[in-house]
Amino acid sequence: MSLRGKRALVTGSSRGIGRGIALKLAEQGVKTAIHYYKQEEAANETLAQVRARGSDGFVVQADVTRPEEIQGMFDRVRREFDKLDILVSNARPELAAFYRPPMELTLEQWNSALDSQAQAFLLEAQTVARMMPDGGRIIAISYSPSGRTGSWQPWIAMGAAKAAMDALARYFAVALGRRGITVNVISPGATDDSVVSRLPTEVFQAIKTWHESGWTPLGRIGTPEDIGNAVLLLCMEEAGFITGQTLHVDGGASIMDTVFPLGIQQG
Ligand SMILES: NC(=O)c1ccc[n+]([C@@H]2O[C@H](COP(=O)([O-])OP(=O)(O)OC[C@H]3O[C@@H](n4cnc5c(N)ncnc54)[C@H](OP(=O)(O)O)[C@@H]3O)[C@@H](O)[C@H]2O)c1
Repeated sequence: MSLRGKRALVTGSSRGIGRGIALKLAEQGVKTAIHYYKQEEAANETLAQVRARGSDGFVVQADVTRPEEIQGMFDRVRREFDKLDILVSNARPELAAFYRPPMELTLEQWNSALDSQAQAFLLEAQTVARMMPDGGRIIAISYSPSGRTGSWQPWIAMGAAKAAMDALARYFAVALGRRGITVNVISPGATDDSVVSRLPTEVFQAIKTWHESGWTPLGRIGTPEDIGNAVLLLCMEEAGFITGQTLHVDGGASIMDTVFPLGIQQG
């Protein structure tokens, strides 16, 4: 596999999963635009780590809930890179912007979720398609279980937004297929060094224990590196016939059946 010399934009790569993706791409020689919203210092740290891996890139700021800022982000990418081979749409607002149960959710929070995932991915895919050579890669980072379940109550807005993002990816996969541009979704499970590890310590610990106890077949929560590895797989030339698909990168958590959990199968 050689991705050396390819150019990528990873939104929300100042930290968390986005940083893990940018660093994995850097290890393969991909030049990457490190996007951030407010934490410029963190974005510069990602870039420093990209350079330490022998690659290069630049940092770019934008609020992805604002169409004109998405346009500005791509204008900058065009000036720096001319073309873009890989787009990873990963940014997601802080919990306070959208995390509220159904009966308390405000329109502002609903819009924040939808604008940052559905509207942003729509505009990003349309814009990048005009500057992406044939054979490029578009990857949306979703959380697909939240688009079809309803138990994680304060996730209602983001669940709806991720469902829309998943659907958009399939439509763009068809629209761009004849150019050999693949459009896929990666759906991480609970992941360390991300928003999950910033939850109150006892909540984070409970999540880890639950997954380590057997709910995740591979016995642990994920890491940003796990998600970066999955992005690399989809970027390989050999993955060129995979499009419109959702890849669950969750140690198998998404194949577990809530109706017959392992604990009630004894004897
Ligand atoms: N963490 C998990 O366990 C998990 C599981 C499944 C799916 N996911 C998905 O993976 C992605 C990354 O999650 P994460 O937990 O790694 O995120 P995170 O650590 O909370 O980082 C969020 C990133 O998005 C940027 N951002 C925040 N608000 C923004 C805005 N309005 N406009 C543009 N960028 C904005 C942040 O930039 P600043 O640093 O500048 O604020 C940061 O780079 C998300 O799409 C999430 O839904 C995560």
